[in-house]
Amino acid sequence: MSYYKIADLEQYFKHYKKSVREPRKFWSKIAEENFTWYQGWDKVFDFDFPKGEIKWFVNAKLNITKNCIDRHLSKRGDKTALIFEPNNPSEEAQRITYNELYIKVAKTANVLKSLGIKKGDRVCIYLPMIPELAISMLACARIGAIHSVIFAGFSDAAIRSRVEDCNAKLIITADGGFRGDKSIKIKEIVDKAIENVTSVEKVLVVKRTNEQVAFNPLRDVWFNDLYQDANDTNIAEIMDAEDPLFILYTSGSTGKPKGMVHTTAGYMVQTAYSFQNVFNYNDTDVFWCTADLGWITGHSYILYGALLNGATTVLFEGIPTFPNPSRYWDIIDKHKITHFYTAPTAIRSLMTADYSYVASHNLSSLRVLGSVGEPINEEAWHWFNDFIGKKRCPIVDTWWQTETGAILIAPIACVTPTKPTYATLPLPGVQAVLMDDKNNEIKGNQVMGSLCVKFPWPSIARTIWGDHERFVKTYFSDFPGTYFTGDNALRDEVGYYRITGRADDVVIVSGHNLGTAPIEDAINQHPAVAESAVVGFPHDIKGNALYGYISLKLEGTSRDKDNLKKEINQLIADHYGPIGKLDKIQFVTDLPKTRSGKILRRVLRSIALNQLDNFGDTSTMINPEVVKNIIANRL
Ligand code: WT7
Repeated sequence: MSYYKIADLEQYFKHYKKSVREPRKFWSKIAEENFTWYQGWDKVFDFDFPKGEIKWFVNAKLNITKNCIDRHLSKRGDKTALIFEPNNPSEEAQRITYNELYIKVAKTANVLKSLGIKKGDRVCIYLPMIPELAISMLACARIGAIHSVIFAGFSDAAIRSRVEDCNAKLIITADGGFRGDKSIKIKEIVDKAIENVTSVEKVLVVKRTNEQVAFNPLRDVWFNDLYQDANDTNIAEIMDAEDPLFILYTSGSTGKPKGMVHTTAGYMVQTAYSFQNVFNYNDTDVFWCTADLGWITGHSYILYGALLNGATTVLFEGIPTFPNPSRYWDIIDKHKITHFYTAPTAIRSLMTADYSYVASHNLSSLRVLGSVGEPINEEAWHWFNDFIGKKRCPIVDTWWQTETGAILIAPIACVTPTKPTYATLPLPGVQAVLMDDKNNEIKGNQVMGSLCVKFPWPSIARTIWGDHERFVKTYFSDFPGTYFTGDNALRDEVGYYRITGRADDVVIVSGHNLGTAPIEDAINQHPAVAESAVVGFPHDIKGNALYGYISLKLEGTSRDKDNLKKEINQLIADHYGPIGKLDKIQFVTDLPKTRSGKILRRVLRSIALNQLDNFGDTSTMINPEVVKNIIANRL
């Protein structure tokens, strides 16, 4: 009896039950039968939720890249591991086999070693979506360095805070990057980001655009110079199951991003297992996840989950609308993609393009569609189903988080009957529960509550880099004895879950999880600004957009408001990234506050939603008169 693959619904329920009743047996069997280890574990898991302490496969030894690459070489050495589709369709796509990937990763690992990078060192990677990004991640894992990939759309300030937070020794970057009809000066952004950052010893620069860049010979090194001469074999570092594999930052409710730490063995086992089952993966499939490798979706399903299963995975450098809105459909036909895993915001934006962009395509290679990042609205679900999947491809609506490492709630393609807007059922091993405000589990169906998980799963993040207390406070304190996801959800009459939205100050814009606090921090740097509060409001394409309520200092009130708005959005772009720009800016005399000075965001959220009849409990508000004023001038 193997638990690695779920063949039908009956088996799903059987495996689910097994995973709850005998989690040790369930996970150890999967781990034993499907991976290579240098040494087995003494204990399958060990945990204390209230303290945020979790361990899986205690004392086991392994290297994840041996599992992603080396063990496939005898059977699938010549199989394509990565397909690189460049931004510009006139540039030829690249296919990299498992044999070639081995060599590239080994050489890059040796390059890192030659720069003095050792096990446990942090390496920040700020690269466009080119093969070197995937290869650098694997090269870090090969030698036991902890990678921290920073999405290449982030600003220099965002890079700096991430580099400083983890004390990175090395940054891997590129001269520039291509995005649609633009080229972006990546190296320049990094130079600015690390001015006076003392931890960074070297900057390794990959050539992509071949544009001239400033080069500091004491610090900067051309990747290619070292790569050419590097040895093409590398003995993988022996890693402990709980050695950190990577750090990935996600927004929280304070200005400081949280560096989520994922470790080696549990992450490996569960990303592989979920990839296999959620996507109903077969050996001849061509898997395309459109996310950036700078997000967890890219880490777990473009890279690790896919390679662990020996899959062919696609890396796309460009954007869905360049050179025109048929680009995704071109790529699907060109590479005979079987699995297309994307975000609702991309679907909504492509829905608005003329249908002829889709109609001229065959799309018959598609077998499974996936959605991730935010709730998929019914209209987008049906369009995706009817026009892309032609009603023959299951849509897996996958719910998970940076913190969870792997998909936790989703249909199993070709097994679980889907239902529009529902993530459906938790995967085996995931004990999802709904909790009420009094910390009681809400049993039964047709109920709603705070979505929690009451038992650890292998790929859960282990801590926040440098701040375990914040980890405990954020995830294990609101509902003691469980992990709190920060989401609200409902469970329907058959037990299917639907995620209804965030319970905290995080807004999901175009599938990006944005903390409002760091955006407010950027706004507040404007000399004319006194205070600000940012909330989300529904947007047809982006899912949500940002609405900023801003009060001005006296000297600001006489300023031209359109200019002020431009300056504020520019500040956000510089300090946070363009994705955090506000769609609406309302200047207000004051913000509604509680006696203790806390901004009543709930009230501002309701105003942005135009729900003006009931603000809930406002008894603690000290300045109700400002609310009338804000409503009268709402945008
Ligand atoms: C938050 C996590 C996990 C990959 C990308 C986002 C929301 C994610 C869904 C979904 C409804 C979803 C949740 C979650 N979310 N997937 N299928 N349906 N909501 O990772 O940036 O860590 O964001 O995204 O609110 O908590 P992330």
